Amino acid sequence: MTPRTPSILVINGPNLNLLGTREPAVYGTATLDDVVRLAEDTARDLGCTASSTQSNHEGRIIDAIHAARSTSDGIVINAGAFTHTSIAIRDALAAVGLPVVEVHISNVHRREEFRHSSYISGVADAVIVGAGIDGYRLAVDHLARRLTAAAGTDAASFPKS
Ligand code: DQA
Repeated sequence: MTPRTPSILVINGPNLNLLGTREPAVYGTATLDDVVRLAEDTARDLGCTASSTQSNHEGRIIDAIHAARSTSDGIVINAGAFTHTSIAIRDALAAVGLPVVEVHISNVHRREEFRHSSYISGVADAVIVGAGIDGYRLAVDHLARRLTAAAGTDAASFPKS
């Protein structure tokens, strides 16, 4: 049987649609489209696929996490400010039970105290903070290697074209 291509869902939360113009001193000048492309390219190079979604609404993010149960093998999530407030997003991630990597573009630990705690970290397999948008590449890379190893479709069998 041909193994299925592992698929990664990248979820971006509130205000991340404004990347590129939002507080560039904190978040840089790359746009959300750049993040989406980076995730897609990283996944492809490792024999996986990545799809992305962004929402400013907590319930929509929860719906996307639930839908991932039947469409995805792992989740990369930057829940934005919901990271620090949303037990419901944490519960959704715990409920679907997929591997999760939490990403923050900025180093939240060097910022205001209210950004130091995360409801997501306790249900995440890995947390990447402060690497800029490269954090998404690191997150997708980590998940892709883990998923292809589990599926027996190692990156080595997907040479770059
Ligand atoms: C963020 C950090 C959060 O504290 C903030 O609310 C965001 C972005 C980051 O990527 O650094 O919206 O998640």
